Amino acid sequence: MEAFEGCCAKVMSLLTGWIGLIGRFIFAIFGAVFLALGIALYPVGCLIPSWVGNFAFQCAFKIGYQLYVFTPLGRMIHMQMINSRRKGHSQPHTINITATSLSTCDVIPVPILADNYGYMIIDRATKQAAVVDPADPRLMEQMLERRKVQLTTILTTHRHHDHAGGNLELKKKFPGVVVVGGKGDNVAGVTKEVSDGDRLSIGETLVQIVETPCHTTGHVVFVVCGRGGAGVSEVAEGVFSGDTLFIGGVGAFFHGSEIDMHKSINQNLSWVPDSALVFCGHEYTVENCRFAEWLEPGNPLVLARSSWAVKRRAMKSGASVAVNGRKRDAREVRAGPPVDRACPLHLGQS
Ligand SMILES: [Fe+2]
Repeated sequence: MEAFEGCCAKVMSLLTGWIGLIGRFIFAIFGAVFLALGIALYPVGCLIPSWVGNFAFQCAFKIGYQLYVFTPLGRMIHMQMINSRRKGHSQPHTINITATSLSTCDVIPVPILADNYGYMIIDRATKQAAVVDPADPRLMEQMLERRKVQLTTILTTHRHHDHAGGNLELKKKFPGVVVVGGKGDNVAGVTKEVSDGDRLSIGETLVQIVETPCHTTGHVVFVVCGRGGAGVSEVAEGVFSGDTLFIGGVGAFFHGSEIDMHKSINQNLSWVPDSALVFCGHEYTVENCRFAEWLEPGNPLVLARSSWAVKRRAMKSGASVAVNGRKRDAREVRAGPPVDRACPLHLGQS
């Protein structure tokens, strides 16, 4: 029996190796084809009008996006990236990690890939835990084991592999875990689709769902509601904003317009107080602030935020996790004429 199991394990590891190799091969072919096309078309590009070039680029981007999001190829590439970072012992993008205590739970950021953040939410009273956007399943599993907590819930802000990429593995490893995703977003392994205003609990920690469609059609944000002070029953303490809200910016408009993003942030999330801590899906603060400096030169708020973020990143500390009182940074999203790129933010007065 043992010999049979050993044989099966060998076959599985051989198969995994082959799948990895095939994935790398396909990735390399795509890269080579795009590079060759780019070089071959460069002289032609000088002759054709820029709108034709832009149109061609947009078409190529849309095809690439569809392949990445809606076919198994994207997931394969994602897992390949996760595995190669692990094998290469790549340093995490953020090293100085500290847990943040909300009134009923602790939140631990987990740096993943080049700039993603997953999170662990641990309910202090019951030691039940939820993971948010667990794109690296093995890393999340190690963190859960180290903390000796019981995983009950996977909270997925949206379907992109760099957020939902670990759902299937974790679901297999922890049978009975509830996999939460926005209605209609087709999140991997989803067992509970949620809509605006829905609530769920992790032990004694309450989480409210806010729909924020734009980056994806079913993108949701998770708001942890804690105990309020005297006379207040509860208060929104933490916002797990996925790819909707960043510090100094907002997510790309893959499935919506600036009007949708404006509604998501300025209307759907308007009830969340500025005192709530923001836990973003990516470490984009420095880049967003640089863009804001270009957009609003001389704005002292932008300059202060920018230099704060640069200092934090120089120490490899997070500038996009548990950021307090800065929700307004990207809240006043312009709903007027679109600007040139997918980051039409306006820094409001704090
Ligand atoms: Fe995304």
